[in-house]
Amino acid sequence: MKALILSGGHGTRLRPLTYSQQKQLIPVANKPVLFYAIEDVIEAGIHEIGIIVGPNKEQVMETVRSVDWDAEIEFIYQGEPKGLAHAILVARDYLGDDDFVMYLGDNILREGIVEHLKHFKEGNFDASILLQEVPNPQQFGVAELSEDGKTIRRLVEKPKVPPSNLALVGIYFFKPVIHEAVENIKPSWRNELEITDAIQWLIDHGYRVGWTKVTGWWKDTGKPEDILDANRLILDDIKTDIRIHTSARIHGRVAIGEGTVIDGNTVIKGPAVIGRNVKIMNSYIGPYTSIGDNCIIENTEIEDSIVLEGSEIRNAGRIVESLIGRGVKIINGTSHPFGRKLVIGDNSRLIL
Ligand code: G1P
Repeated sequence: MKALILSGGHGTRLRPLTYSQQKQLIPVANKPVLFYAIEDVIEAGIHEIGIIVGPNKEQVMETVRSVDWDAEIEFIYQGEPKGLAHAILVARDYLGDDDFVMYLGDNILREGIVEHLKHFKEGNFDASILLQEVPNPQQFGVAELSEDGKTIRRLVEKPKVPPSNLALVGIYFFKPVIHEAVENIKPSWRNELEITDAIQWLIDHGYRVGWTKVTGWWKDTGKPEDILDANRLILDDIKTDIRIHTSARIHGRVAIGEGTVIDGNTVIKGPAVIGRNVKIMNSYIGPYTSIGDNCIIENTEIEDSIVLEGSEIRNAGRIVESLIGRGVKIINGTSHPFGRKLVIGDNSRLIL
């Protein structure tokens, strides 16, 4: 059994962050989203992992290689992303005749994949998918179940009129017959080889496609709101782990990395995670906040937000529900002319 984890694509819905960073590398609770997928796969006993990379391949490779994983990891270059089924086509040689799990590297699943893999193996299915009820099925692939509810009858990608509220989670188990399916489908209206069409091909040709329901939370971190939501969900489970001495007032579960300095006028209310070599002075860090390495925060209140590494925030008042990129400076200026002086990248969003 192998794993194919997808870490390509342009991440347009996460601009401007994705102008300089591959979307699957954006950290949630100070850990790249992609790492949650790799951990799930290894936890399920799969130690051969192919990672599909695209335009920012060097960045993905370097980040993944910075950790000593209990797995053999190979990188497979996709070039221009032409759909999820195209990724399987590109990985044909790597996958050989093995069964595999395909895991979209921007998905986070709290419960991991152990039980889902077990169902795929024990049911001897040709493919098995994960489903979860969602309030907005129009934005996903959607499944219609067979009469007995055991197998899938039909899948539709982003339907205007959804046949159910069961969305396809971005995790799929396949036997090698999927390669035949992928070779036989045509690009969709958005000119992509859709994985939903390939699975539909299996159904239409008499193969058995099983499914399991996701019972814990699942997040597709495609948009800024989703990243903040995933951050809240992950922080809900963190444990206290404070690596420094500080006289700051700390309430609730908080993790603080080495080399970080927090002065006595600061209050931190968990759940929150603060990286390494951060400086925090006279500030309030509220619940559901993740602060990356090497940040400076002074005279500011931050709550329910993510601040990526190397950013500096001084005298900035109160910041809530924000996703702040790397190396950003937010400073309350003291020189004339007074007013908001902005140097903002393309597609940035400010709510003042
Ligand atoms: C993709 C799939 C869709 C699935 C979703 C899950 O959509 O095409 O069927 O429900 O992932 O994350 P995308 O995120 O590419 O819009």
